[in-house]
Amino acid sequence: MSEVLKKILVIDDYEDFRETLCEQLEGESLKILQAKNGKEAQGIISIEKPKLIISDLRMPEVHGLELLHWLKRNHPTSKIILMTGHPDMLERAEAIELGALGLLFKPFQYEELKSLIQKHFSLAREKSKTSERKEDDEKDFLQVTLKEFITGSNSKYPLYLKISNTRFVKIINKDEKVEVEEIDRLIKKGVKCLYIKRDDYNKYIALILKVNEVIKSKSSIDDEKKKKFLFHTNEVIMEKLYHSDFNRDDLVQAHSVVKSSLQVVSNNSTLSSLLKTLKDYGEHAYAHNLAVSLYSVMLSKQMGWHASKTLSFLSIGGLFHDIGIKKINSEITGKDYQIMTSEEKSAYEAHPVYGVEILTNIGDIPKEVLQIVMQHHERLNSTGYPFGLSHTSIYPLAQLVGLVDRFVELVLNHTPALSITPKAAVKKLIDENEGEFNKEMLKNLSSLFSVP
Ligand SMILES: [Fe+2]
Ligand SMILES: [Fe+2]
Repeated sequence: MSEVLKKILVIDDYEDFRETLCEQLEGESLKILQAKNGKEAQGIISIEKPKLIISDLRMPEVHGLELLHWLKRNHPTSKIILMTGHPDMLERAEAIELGALGLLFKPFQYEELKSLIQKHFSLAREKSKTSERKEDDEKDFLQVTLKEFITGSNSKYPLYLKISNTRFVKIINKDEKVEVEEIDRLIKKGVKCLYIKRDDYNKYIALILKVNEVIKSKSSIDDEKKKKFLFHTNEVIMEKLYHSDFNRDDLVQAHSVVKSSLQVVSNNSTLSSLLKTLKDYGEHAYAHNLAVSLYSVMLSKQMGWHASKTLSFLSIGGLFHDIGIKKINSEITGKDYQIMTSEEKSAYEAHPVYGVEILTNIGDIPKEVLQIVMQHHERLNSTGYPFGLSHTSIYPLAQLVGLVDRFVELVLNHTPALSITPKAAVKKLIDENEGEFNKEMLKNLSSLFSVP
């Protein structure tokens, strides 16, 4: 540290620790002041006006956070670094929200403190716009449900707490351990979710799906937990399907319809194991069916079809539309339709029929859902399969799911690099439509994604 005699106040009720820390700081050409508690510190701060304060968080009389509130009101230019032996995520969030430069966990490496001090003085020197608080953009963050949060492992990405609609505070650093007790404490305080940066989301999904595989393979994990996780995975994939090209409220509403359908499915053991079968096919097959379910509900609403029965047929039909692929050799289903041989194509084209067979055996599946499954590859100009039906002979909800199915293949390709944006997908469908798809549905799909 090149500049001399900058005043730093060290506050800690544990004398040995305070003395040692002060000795270390003396060597840094700083004027070091000390106080044994927050109250004594307030007196020193009023007279000496130190630019930097290093304080214990939990102290008798005046707690570190109270001191921070007091500083904000009375000495807003003094900055504070807090230290604690008891990490608490909420305290950490509050401290950072109040402007603390950092929160160090005892025992910490002196180098960590030194780098915070250096950073502070060099930033203070620049005295630029850094003090202006930049508002966070809510769209950059995605929600992680806290209840099913995976604890006891190191977080692969930083986690944030939402303070307001435009403020997110980092409470877990990358590679930091997420303690079970900490999550419990957050739940008790009414926190329901944490947030991660959208850019980190793919890592999160990969982790969740990996854990999901482990859970599925461990018979010792009870059904209730498995069910919980099934829902959690759905939440995660749902979030992945959110795209900024459309209105988030539309997605939230559609999501609640799909969630109710999932509730129905999870109460039926055969249906829920069928859904799990899709998961066994891997992330893509599962995400594809979930996406078709979700976007079908959204498109239906856009078309003005709001009846709850219609929405429920579409969401369940969407969830199971490709269930028939489980009867087809995975070597075939793993290929793109366009590159299949004609034999492979005819084997693959039987999946709607197989799907209906599977669902009929379960019983009690509405015929509307069966029609969706059977006809989702039929096309208005008779170029579809399995029967080459045309126009009015294709059930309208199957026409809708068929269009959404094609749309989802474009935006969520099983080779991620080949995926295109929703806007580009709608444009492609409109440009290339030779009478396969209903024009009114295409028009509504483009309105949904604000395509001009
Ligand atoms: Fe299909
Ligand atoms: Fe499909």
